[in-house]
Amino acid sequence: MSEFIEKMPKCELHVHLEGTLEPEHIFELAQKNGVELEYDSPQAVIDAYDFNDLPSFLAIYYAGMNVLQTEQDFYDLTYRYFERASADNVRYVEPFFDPQGHTTRGVTFETIIDGIVRAQKDAAEKLGVESNLIMCFLRDMSAESAMEHLEMAKPHLDKIIGVGLDSDEKDNPPLKFAEVFAKAREWGLKLTMHCDVDQDNSVSNIRDVVTKIEVDRIDHGVNSLEDDALCDEIVRRGLGLTVCPVSNTFCASSLTAEEIRTMLQKGMRATVNSDDPAYFRAYMTDNFKALSEQGGLTDDELVQLSRNAFTVSWLDDARKQSYIEALDAYVEAARAA
Ligand code: ADE
Ligand code: ZN
Repeated sequence: MSEFIEKMPKCELHVHLEGTLEPEHIFELAQKNGVELEYDSPQAVIDAYDFNDLPSFLAIYYAGMNVLQTEQDFYDLTYRYFERASADNVRYVEPFFDPQGHTTRGVTFETIIDGIVRAQKDAAEKLGVESNLIMCFLRDMSAESAMEHLEMAKPHLDKIIGVGLDSDEKDNPPLKFAEVFAKAREWGLKLTMHCDVDQDNSVSNIRDVVTKIEVDRIDHGVNSLEDDALCDEIVRRGLGLTVCPVSNTFCASSLTAEEIRTMLQKGMRATVNSDDPAYFRAYMTDNFKALSEQGGLTDDELVQLSRNAFTVSWLDDARKQSYIEALDAYVEAARAA
C-alpha cells in the first residue's frame, strides 16, 4: 500500500511556496543574508513550531519568510520544493505565492516572480514537473493593497494562471475583495479563495465565494458539508476543493478524513494537498498515507482524489487527459502486479 501511494502520479493544487521553506534553508539563508535568528539550530526552529490554529501558524510562517531576499533565494526555495515534490511523483503543481509577504519588506515584485519562474522552467525541463503559478492576496491587508499588487502583476500575466486569497480569515470575508477578483477575472485569470476550516461564518463565506465571487475552485471549503444546498451547488458547478489533511490536524484539530470521504460520496471533487509542508512536516505522499493509515480511506478513494486533482486543475483538456491516462495506466499496472 505504502509503495502504491508513493509512486502514484499526483497533482498538487494547494501549496504555498513560502510554506515549503525548510528549517535548514531558513538557517542557510539567515547566515547568507545576515538575518538574525532566535534559534541556534534547524532543530530548534522545528521545536519552536507551536501552532494549534490558523493565527498561531501564520505568525510563525511570516517570521520564517523574512530570510527570503534575492532572486536566487526565491529560485532555490521553489526549485527545492519541486525536487521534493518530484520524489513523491507529483507531476503537476499550481503553487501559491504571497507577494505582499515580501514587497512589505522591500523585496521587489520582479525579484520574487523572476526567481520563481526560472525555477518553474528548470523543474519542467530537468525534473519533468510542470506547473502554473497562482498569486495570492493577503486578506488581512487592505483591498487597495491587493489591487496595487494585481496592477504590479499586469506585465507578468503570462506567468500567472490565477489569483487566490489567503492569510487570516477573521473579519476578512471574501466580499472585501470582490472588486479585485472581478478585475482579475476580466484579465483572464482563474479565481480561487481560501475558506479555511472552522472559521467565523465559514458556511456563509463559502456560499459567497461560490455564488457571488463565482470562483473556479475552493481552497479547503470543508465546512460546506454543513449545508446540503451548498454542497449541491458545488457539485452542480463541478468545483474542486483543495483539502489539506495534515494541515487540518494543526489548524483545525482533525485530519478531516471522514469529511473527505463524505465529499467523494456526494460527488464533490475533493483533492489532497500539503498546504505548508515544511511547517506541518508532511508532503504529498505523507498526506495520502495519513488518509490511508489513520483515516482508513481505501485505495480506490485515494486514486479518485488524485484523479480529481488533475480534473479540477487549470490545465487544458488535452493535458488533463494525458495525466489522467497516466494515472489510470499506473493503477491498472499496479493491480495486475
Ligand atoms: N497561508 C499559508 N497557509 C495558509 C492557510 N492554510 N490558510 C490561510 N493562509 C495561509
Ligand atoms: Zn493554504
